[in-house]
Amino acid sequence: MSEEVEDHRLFNDSDNEPFSSVLTRRLSRRDVMRGGMGVAAATMLAGFGLTGCNDDDRDVSVGDDDDTAPALALAFQAVAGSRTDAVVVPSGYTAQVLIPWGTPIDASAPAWTMSQHMTPAIQASSVGMNHDGMYHFPLADDTASRDFVLAMNNEYINQGPLWAPQGGPTAPEDNDGRRPVDEVRTEINAHGVTLVRLRKDDDAHWAPVMDANYNRRITGHTPCRLSGPVAGSPYVVTAYSNGGTATRGTMNNCACGYTPWGTYLTCEENWPNLFMKSDDRDPDDDRLGIWTDDTIYHWQTAAGTADEDSGEFARFDATPSADAATGDYRNEPKTYGYVVEINPYDNTARPVKRTALGRFRHEGCWPGKLVEGEPVVFYTGHDSRNEYIYKYVSDAVWDSNHENRAGANTDRLAVGDLYMDAGTLYVARFNADGSGDWLALTPDAMTKSGDQTLAAALGLAANDQAGVIINTADAADLLGATPMDRPEWGTVDPVSGDVYMSLTNNSDRTAADTQPSFTGDGTSIDNPGVGYASAPVNAANPRPDNEYGQVIRWRESDAKDNTFAWDIFVFGGAPEIDDNLSGLTEANQFASPDGLWYDDRGDGNGILWIETDNGGNRVAEDTNDQVLAVVPKAVSLADGDAAVIDPADQAQLKRFTVGPNGCEITGIFATPDKSALFINIQHPGNWPSMSDDATAVTNDTVRPRASTVVIQKSDGGPIAV
Ligand code: FEO
Ligand code: CA
Ligand code: CA
Repeated sequence: MSEEVEDHRLFNDSDNEPFSSVLTRRLSRRDVMRGGMGVAAATMLAGFGLTGCNDDDRDVSVGDDDDTAPALALAFQAVAGSRTDAVVVPSGYTAQVLIPWGTPIDASAPAWTMSQHMTPAIQASSVGMNHDGMYHFPLADDTASRDFVLAMNNEYINQGPLWAPQGGPTAPEDNDGRRPVDEVRTEINAHGVTLVRLRKDDDAHWAPVMDANYNRRITGHTPCRLSGPVAGSPYVVTAYSNGGTATRGTMNNCACGYTPWGTYLTCEENWPNLFMKSDDRDPDDDRLGIWTDDTIYHWQTAAGTADEDSGEFARFDATPSADAATGDYRNEPKTYGYVVEINPYDNTARPVKRTALGRFRHEGCWPGKLVEGEPVVFYTGHDSRNEYIYKYVSDAVWDSNHENRAGANTDRLAVGDLYMDAGTLYVARFNADGSGDWLALTPDAMTKSGDQTLAAALGLAANDQAGVIINTADAADLLGATPMDRPEWGTVDPVSGDVYMSLTNNSDRTAADTQPSFTGDGTSIDNPGVGYASAPVNAANPRPDNEYGQVIRWRESDAKDNTFAWDIFVFGGAPEIDDNLSGLTEANQFASPDGLWYDDRGDGNGILWIETDNGGNRVAEDTNDQVLAVVPKAVSLADGDAAVIDPADQAQLKRFTVGPNGCEITGIFATPDKSALFINIQHPGNWPSMSDDATAVTNDTVRPRASTVVIQKSDGGPIAV
């Protein structure tokens, strides 16, 4: 996401020990495993069905499989780096611009024009801004690859393009200290989620189906149900919901996920920027970065205007103003920071905030390998520097009668209640020997010091799971979780269960021989939000001042004992840098991996797609953000390699697409027949042109619009192979 709203300041000031004693700046995982693995870890790895480190003909790799089928070959011609106002795709492929911001989804909104003045009503009936995570929901099995409901996040707003016809947003100081009500409502409506039916015609051209039953906008104002441990607790009592069971809106929805029962998951990431609290701040307000004196778009300044509906603007200032929480919005920020479930098949169904999956700056939520009779698992990550990776495990076990059936008239959110409201949330500790542990975030869990429970350490009642959830990150500190280099997207190989996650970059990662520094009081029990201002490298995050990022991978242990094995899949880099640990070349250099999608192609084969969100560095001099592809089965961890993709593997990691100037590329899936790959171009600088050919270079100056792009092969066949 753009620098405008990105806020990855350090809020983690815990004192979790890094594993720096075993690290070197140029880390070889292989060497670490050979030299440092104890008996316990060796036994554990054997439990994964992995070979020991000293037996040399086999690689120790999370990605091992027993099947001897050959790896899929990527057949497209890789594209060169590009810095133009156009999308670049391989020869033999087309790229269509689809549903840019402002595209009407019902007949009440006018067709978009470059001079369109946005209003609350028009924006509520049109595609939102800054497309991000998305997923497809079929309407019938036989049409699933040409007709489906798209659910797509609209992560944040760019006020410049939004208010271009009037020369920009109206500042409070130019309007008696208040943002104009219509501007605030329009901005709130440009956030959230767009649901729209998409259909392909006989010429392989895609278009939204106007007025389809499924079409709707979920915005920053849409009523949402709170569910799970926090629902109904005192933490979320507000003037809007005295019972603490509801809130309004979901915003800053970054990555996404889906459930096996056919619902969409949208994840609240940079929402703390929307709220302020001047006093009576709680530890979670500080840890998550709720602002103190103002908010990013000053929406709270519209409070008190004549037609304000039930504190719709007042709620962005959480400073207590009444005698009790039932009379103000002191708890409003505590109704944000969740994974939100949406039923894409029922336009009357309220979104549900699934609090059991933790509260933080959620990037996304990805289902683990699904096994009949076993719990349903979701992986999530907290995108801030030195924050953590989480796993949620349902109490209820999977019953395939709940599987998504296109067109079925089932209460999908009731199935969500079963699997997503009762379960255990864990946080990851990545050990230096290639093993890992999932640490349960329950009130009775013992903290890493071993002398008290999590509830006691957080100052909570003994059984207060809601309190643990509200303070998820602080609780994770106390358990000794591993601080990571900004977890972004994850994805799961549904056959092996291998999980991949982007660790995009981290400018607050320091060298092995440095001490962590803290932003708070490292000992206070009353305020345990005591974390890192900087954290030394550890095995899973081995590069100081990590500008280029890496993709980490893990596999759960066969013993199902909440342990796992991990490796680094690939390090971002460029040929000219010292730390180019995966040996990338000009043809595939990348930085700041972000979007990921494991594209299962059967027979134990699949393509890992990697999207980037790069800033200024050596890679940016040569190319805009991009989409790369690699077949994990074609690469493995060998002797002395720092990562699975090593200098000998350069032919396997191929650049598939480059985006226009100024953009990041995010959101990704393909149709079931693999004939169309959908991606999103977010915050482009001067794109798209009025043509719907995404590869057309914009010649004039345009009002830029985030857009979905559909990439297809000219011959209609499956992409990439
Ligand atoms: Fe919205 Fe972590 O990117
Ligand atoms: Ca992202
Ligand atoms: Ca990013």
